[in-house]
Amino acid sequence: MRRIKKVGVIGAGTMGSGIAALVISAGIPVVLLDIPGQDDRNGPAKQGLERALKSKFPAFMDKDLAAYIEVGNIEDDLDKLKDCDWVVEAIVEKVEPKQALYARLESVLHPEAIVSSNTSSIPMRVLLEGRSEGFKRRFLGTHFFNPPRYLHLLEIIPTPETDADVVAAIRRFGERVLGKGVVLAKDSPGFIANRLGVYGMVQAMRLMEKHGLTIDEVDALTGSLLGRPNSATFRTADLTGLDVLKLVAEELAEATGEDFRLPGWFYQLVERGLLGDKTGAGFYKKVEGERYTLDYTTLEYRPRQKLELPELGALKDKPLEERLRGAQQLPGKYGAFLKELFALTAHYTVSKAPEIAYDLVGVDQALEWGFGWEEGPFKNMDALGLDYVRQVFRELGLEEPDWIRGHGRFYLNGTFLGFDGAYHPLPSRPDIIQLKPLKREGRVLHSTSEASILDLGDGVLLLEFHSKMNAIGEGILRTLEKALRTVETGDYLGLVIGNEDPRAFSAGANLALILSLAQEGDWAELKRATYFFQQATKAIRYAPFPVVVAPFGLTLGGGAEFMLHADHVQAHAELYTGLVEAGVGLLPAGGGTKEMLLRFTKELSGFAQADLFEGVRRAFELIATAKVATSALEAKKFGFLRDRDGITMNRDFLIADAKRKVLELAVDYRPPLPSRITVLGDEALGNLKYAVWQFREAGEITDHEVKIGQEIAWVLSGGGGPRREVTEDFLLELEREAFVRLLGTRKTQERIAYTLKTGKPLRN
Ligand code: NAI
Repeated sequence: MRRIKKVGVIGAGTMGSGIAALVISAGIPVVLLDIPGQDDRNGPAKQGLERALKSKFPAFMDKDLAAYIEVGNIEDDLDKLKDCDWVVEAIVEKVEPKQALYARLESVLHPEAIVSSNTSSIPMRVLLEGRSEGFKRRFLGTHFFNPPRYLHLLEIIPTPETDADVVAAIRRFGERVLGKGVVLAKDSPGFIANRLGVYGMVQAMRLMEKHGLTIDEVDALTGSLLGRPNSATFRTADLTGLDVLKLVAEELAEATGEDFRLPGWFYQLVERGLLGDKTGAGFYKKVEGERYTLDYTTLEYRPRQKLELPELGALKDKPLEERLRGAQQLPGKYGAFLKELFALTAHYTVSKAPEIAYDLVGVDQALEWGFGWEEGPFKNMDALGLDYVRQVFRELGLEEPDWIRGHGRFYLNGTFLGFDGAYHPLPSRPDIIQLKPLKREGRVLHSTSEASILDLGDGVLLLEFHSKMNAIGEGILRTLEKALRTVETGDYLGLVIGNEDPRAFSAGANLALILSLAQEGDWAELKRATYFFQQATKAIRYAPFPVVVAPFGLTLGGGAEFMLHADHVQAHAELYTGLVEAGVGLLPAGGGTKEMLLRFTKELSGFAQADLFEGVRRAFELIATAKVATSALEAKKFGFLRDRDGITMNRDFLIADAKRKVLELAVDYRPPLPSRITVLGDEALGNLKYAVWQFREAGEITDHEVKIGQEIAWVLSGGGGPRREVTEDFLLELEREAFVRLLGTRKTQERIAYTLKTGKPLRN
């Protein structure tokens, strides 16, 4: 099997530097080359990296990794690519420079090296003109989306000459190592996502004019209602850039001979330099913090208008299928607009799919992964029913494409309709575990409104949260208890804690509940609830079988405490985690404060000369400043994850990876012995209090923050007194006391209420 151990990237612009940042974030060495600079020969490559470091959406999962990228220029340093197994070209979108570069690469690269182009529009066969047979066998298109770290889709475009093992190697590397959702596309203009995406955008603009709708109205109708991101049509275009949209539409028109013309006012915007977010105005504009919307009939901006339509409100929380149907039946111009938009885009999709994709599954995945659709267009058509699809085609005089004639569905009992008009089994992916199909198969052992226990097979159970933002309340804790009991008493090997929410593993403990108990002054119940939470995290740690937690996205406060107590964490690379309790005037009291102290002092305790206070201070800083890691790599650096914890780059594999880890650990599993922790007592307390006082003196923190800081310091120093060894339970008790004391303050209650209402922290 081909292994990709080192990657070369040529072109350090928007895409090349983003790809290099992703590759090094995955732990693979990278060489990044650009043209030579005048003063500094490697200036352009270095500047590319600088821009990536400063970009609004961080390109690196850990900024320190930028220093590991070897930079150079294509005149002096081509031989730096000698030992690269894959070289990605991401230079200017012009045929001649790309061809000239490949000609030079032929003689430099090792004979097995794979070469790919990130071109978004030049056909591979054109790029390959003049190349040797050997080069052609190792060449393909790899179309990343901007920004490469965040957009899940990677289109791979093999040519008829590309070796199968080259495609397989890039596919595997793209999927597992870089974490991308890989779709094979045919060598046709715009490949899959851009071709269909831009077509949809063009039609949305034209139909908006035709039906007399506003930009606000179109965005209200084409976002979550249709299972698409809230940025819908025009906010998305503002993010992409109107100039980019114009360029891609023009290229598509030229390459396909199809009509991709946008309305006249769109070109006027581009001429005026109103290109979207990058220029501060496009379809929308921020005026004093408020979003204004373009009136395309006058090209003036006016305050944004909310679409008031009771029918829309009623559909809001319905399942996608009902929303899609409801959308088609909306009264008046809204319904007419959506119906026509659906008919035209569905027809285009069905007609072009055989030309651009290998199967309809790839088309659905391209739009789900490339544009964040809940379900791709073929699933949408199945939801509305093919009879309906045929009816709207007829109404617009559109002919039904041959390959769907006579069929009732695109997906049918584990198969999909091929472009040959026959049904084929869906590709089986034993390395991916999806919860929806498991639920359909009846693998749910227990379920409440907040959490479920599922059987993942092979002796492994899963605890899934599904409360709002996966906030942890009593319901989840009880289900955890039940899951642990079931593993122990049933014939099971271990437990995974994970879920499939798009955003949050868990946003933390249920604050609304905590606040209401505090406002009622029910301190006894609060102490009991906190104790119960601590017992839960403790049970995760000391269960006589492996418990693997699989966090991703928002993993905050109580969610992070679950993670901290796992035997092993299998984290998604995109992890946003921290003990953020101080932000709402509290401290981590689910074992989080104890755990950070334990970790950081234990690390040092092996060194006779080490100052344990360094460990205490490190824990204090993380907790008191509510520090958040913005990737799994950063979480390792901060100490939320241990070196031995695993990182899965691709979310789709997360639960399967966690399950595999349970099986691996189960072989000779022994729970840890209870820890004893050295606390430094008054010595640490004095030092930390002094530090807090200094911050107050400098005016950097408020009086209430002094109080929060002192409570954290109190727990981390073991409540003062002499230096001594204590048990975990002792520290947990201190956590509870400090937590309830803080909850008793008016300012902490105000903080919680404010955050619940606005989602933001209050500094009072
Ligand atoms: P860019 O203009 O930001 O960067 C191009 C870089 O290549 C510049 O740093 C330039 O100095 C360098 N360069 C130009 N000629 C070179 C040569 N002969 N040798 C070495 N370096 C050279 O362009 P961007 O946006 O990064 O696009 C790169 C490629 O990726 C293009 O093929 C584009 O079509 C494609 N692409 C762009 C996307 C985007 O959203 N920007 C999305 C997907 C693909």
